[in-house]
Amino acid sequence: MSMGQTYTVAVAGMGKRGTHHAEAVSKNPRFKLVGFCDIDQGRVDAAKKQFGVDYGSLDSIQMLKDLKPDVFIFCTLPDLRLPLIRAGVESGAKLIAYEKPIATSMNEAIEMYRLMRAAGVKSVISHQHRYGEHYSKVKEIIASGAIGRVHTVYGHALGWMMHMMTHMIEYASWYNDYAEPEWVIGQADGIEKFSDNHPSPDYISALVQYSNGVRGVFETGAGAPDVPEVSSWWRKCRVGAQGSEGFAEVLTGGGGEGGGWRAVTKDGVTSGPGSMDYEHDMGPYVQEIVDWLDDDRKIHPCNGETAYKGFEVMMAACRSAVQRGRVTLPLGPSQTPELEALKNALSSKNLIQA
Ligand SMILES: NC(=O)c1ccc[n+]([C@@H]2O[C@H](COP(=O)([O-])OP(=O)(O)OC[C@H]3O[C@@H](n4cnc5c(N)ncnc54)[C@H](O)[C@@H]3O)[C@@H](O)[C@H]2O)c1
Repeated sequence: MSMGQTYTVAVAGMGKRGTHHAEAVSKNPRFKLVGFCDIDQGRVDAAKKQFGVDYGSLDSIQMLKDLKPDVFIFCTLPDLRLPLIRAGVESGAKLIAYEKPIATSMNEAIEMYRLMRAAGVKSVISHQHRYGEHYSKVKEIIASGAIGRVHTVYGHALGWMMHMMTHMIEYASWYNDYAEPEWVIGQADGIEKFSDNHPSPDYISALVQYSNGVRGVFETGAGAPDVPEVSSWWRKCRVGAQGSEGFAEVLTGGGGEGGGWRAVTKDGVTSGPGSMDYEHDMGPYVQEIVDWLDDDRKIHPCNGETAYKGFEVMMAACRSAVQRGRVTLPLGPSQTPELEALKNALSSKNLIQA
């Protein structure tokens, strides 16, 4: 058996998630880490030392020019996406893996995907919670037909929109076999979190109509339902599906506490353990990057085209809260970026109340 070729990997943004990615890549024999970039020299030096890599840079564009890696990974905060996608495409990367949310506006997402599609560059987004055993158990139950005909999928999180909403949409869409989202109605409240580094309304909800008639129900932020079974605040997330004969859902959980899955089917009530675990989830996430690079038919389950559709649903919810009424997909560009328009709409609402 051939071992297959080795793919070179350069990583930019060596904070929490960049380090998780570098750890998973370093453990996979099909990858070779070749360089790191961060605007913080201390983080570059620490990564070089931890992973035994010679190359480090404060400038990702320079790093890409110097190394021309097969795979470019970047894990910067949401404000930095399009320039790094452009640099990755121009350097000839075969695949770019980066963090959710994919962009900060539809205009940005449209341009990023125009560049990647034109150059034939694959993309993979870190919606890696799906690798949790509880997440896949729920998928297995739904796919087996045990809950009957699925009519509703849902996901909610206390964490705010730009952190959590595309995670919720992604896994619920998976539970709905990635049927096309057709339209969205959204409502939002509160402007405090627009000043966060994941700028968001304090609360947002979205109702989604999928092409197979299934309804999606999403809520994120302050006022979303609590998940009292889970103690870790960020992991108070519930994602699942209801059908004609029962339901199955996952509670994200973490640190071994309170997560897991549960289902009610005509065979009775069942449940099992599980909790979100970066180390567990990142291994298969990077392995499926290798698989897709080896074979075009093995499309990564966290591929960028799927993430783009989930992001579109989130942006449609923002537009709906501004314009009122239903917003039909796909979305074109907008004159005012969604977050700015939504902040303006919610701010003027507060003025009217005062
Ligand atoms: N998938 C998940 O489960 C998950 C979990 C947490 C965070 N995230 C996402 O990961 C992303 C990063 O979050 P984090 O918690 O790792 O942030 P972080 O602040 O820990 O790391 C970001 C790093 O990027 C660096 N950086 C900033 N500008 C740069 C530039 N121009 N070039 C190179 N590096 C630059 C910063 O110095 C910092 O080290 C966010 O989009 C966040 O939403 C995903």
